[in-house]
Amino acid sequence: MNLKINIAVDGTASSGKSSVMMVVAKDLGFHFIDTGLMYRAYTKMCLDNKVDFNNNVKIIEQLKNFDFHYREGNQIYVGNKNYTKYLSDYDVVENIKYIATLLEVRNKMVDLQRKMAINGNKIMVGRDITTVVLPNAELKIYFDCSAETRAKRRVKQNEENNIYPNDYEDILRQIIQRDESDKNRKESPLMIAKDAWVIDTSDLTFDQVVEKVKTKVLSFINQEE
Ligand code: C5P
Repeated sequence: MNLKINIAVDGTASSGKSSVMMVVAKDLGFHFIDTGLMYRAYTKMCLDNKVDFNNNVKIIEQLKNFDFHYREGNQIYVGNKNYTKYLSDYDVVENIKYIATLLEVRNKMVDLQRKMAINGNKIMVGRDITTVVLPNAELKIYFDCSAETRAKRRVKQNEENNIYPNDYEDILRQIIQRDESDKNRKESPLMIAKDAWVIDTSDLTFDQVVEKVKTKVLSFINQEE
């Protein structure tokens, strides 16, 4: 593929955007960047440093410690600490909302993410990628899915990965609460960019979604080349 396009992807929590786009990226030769992991890593760093999540000044002070990097095989580091296996921890998921709503934290993330996308050929996934980080991305995709289907999928995923606690009602509550917080926050709320292609994954299997998205990306590339 000669064309070095960027594909920006947003969507609700657990809508399948990361797992699907990771496969699409691998199959079509793109680099995959999951920006949710950056917000998760920031939250984990704050937990490790015993930051009070009700104190915005203290959260923002941590920006100086956020020496974030992706290493080989989607390994997430802050400084020399490998955070990869902690990013789905209950405490991390519960507290992301305190850091993801702060303008100063978001500005830092956006800056890092834009630098990662400079050379093109990236699939970048998050909540504000189509609207704020890469508003000029050649292709924009928005993933949606009913909250109940997402909670069921997450329970199954957690079971497979031995992640506990893993209670359906609690996970559904977390998903609804994260949607609320993502869609209604003042800074870069989650929304559907007007030129985004929307895919609802509620009634589709994982493989069906991958196929649909690949067809969309390939037809877009053929059109452009
Ligand atoms: O995508 P993931 O569920 O890993 O994202 C975790 C949280 O990080 C989201 O609920 C959202 O609050 C935040 N996030 C964000 N902007 C992004 C990616 C994630 O605010 N671009």
